Amino acid sequence: MNQYKNMNNLSKLFTNLLTVTLFVGLMFNDQLRSESEPYTPTTMITGANRGIGLEFTKQYLQKGWKVIATCRTPDRADELNNLKKNYPDHLSIMQLDVTDHNRIDELALQLSGIPVDVLLNNAGISGGSSNQIFGTMDYKVYEDVLAVNTIGPLKMAEAFYPHVKGSQLKKIITVSSSEGSIETAFKRGGGRLFFYRSSKTALNMLMVNLALQLKSRGIAVGMVNPGATDTDFMTGLPFPMRKPEVAVADMIRNIENITVENTAAYINYNGKPVPW
Ligand SMILES: NC(=O)c1ccc[n+]([C@@H]2O[C@H](COP(=O)([O-])OP(=O)(O)OC[C@H]3O[C@@H](n4cnc5c(N)ncnc54)[C@H](OP(=O)(O)O)[C@@H]3O)[C@@H](O)[C@H]2O)c1
Repeated sequence: MNQYKNMNNLSKLFTNLLTVTLFVGLMFNDQLRSESEPYTPTTMITGANRGIGLEFTKQYLQKGWKVIATCRTPDRADELNNLKKNYPDHLSIMQLDVTDHNRIDELALQLSGIPVDVLLNNAGISGGSSNQIFGTMDYKVYEDVLAVNTIGPLKMAEAFYPHVKGSQLKKIITVSSSEGSIETAFKRGGGRLFFYRSSKTALNMLMVNLALQLKSRGIAVGMVNPGATDTDFMTGLPFPMRKPEVAVADMIRNIENITVENTAAYINYNGKPVPW
């Protein structure tokens, strides 16, 4: 009887030892796998089909990142579709109009579980200078400008918060503009671009609020300014402009420097803070 009891105990001990060995082995295997496969960060970019958004897409892909490039009409995004041929595994092209909140929620659900290291709110419109002249303001255009430049980035941050939270770098970045700076407006003089300027000022305040709210959750929020850059946005303006390649390289460097420690940073292309 005693002999039978001892054998039973021995068999239990053996089973326990086997379980522990398997468990440690699995852990070690996981560790080995994560050490041998470096983490590939992901950025999700709005308005990625042309201008600054397209250049962000190219440069992040060249850095080896995964890019979720969103745009209003993927069928007509020829340059993005060509890029896809060179980066079939790293580039995804998704339809997204940042004023369509149902679509934003739908896409967030579709991509649930996918980490987004840098959520990059880039899409923006000026509203056209002739629509925002005192005396003949087109208020429908003002609504459109606010919907794209101001409300869109907040809605994107809300919808993709879980994706950012689940990533390693955890950053929500928005392309703002020095035109949103009240102090700079005084220096530049002249009242102009009422809609565009105020949309970026309001955007900055939204992002400061978001930064304050998300700091304790380990998420960094920041704004970057490209400087006057040669895209469709600036067509016909009579002053020297920076090449998109240069403006975007500067912004990527500045985004790297945005962390929870300096969250709410509003950084000019030269790395210096833009005055509020
Ligand atoms: N260029 C500059 O000098 C300058 C200076 C300071 C700040 N910025 C900012 O930089 C950002 C990019 O400007 P950019 O120069 O690249 O302008 P751009 O060449 O005119 O490109 C604007 C992008 O935004 C997209 N977009 C517009 N409305 C949208 C919507 N409702 N939903 C989704 N995407 C939409 C456009 O898509 P579609 O092709 O479908 O229209 C396009 O991809 C903007 O936020 C702008 O305010 C630019």
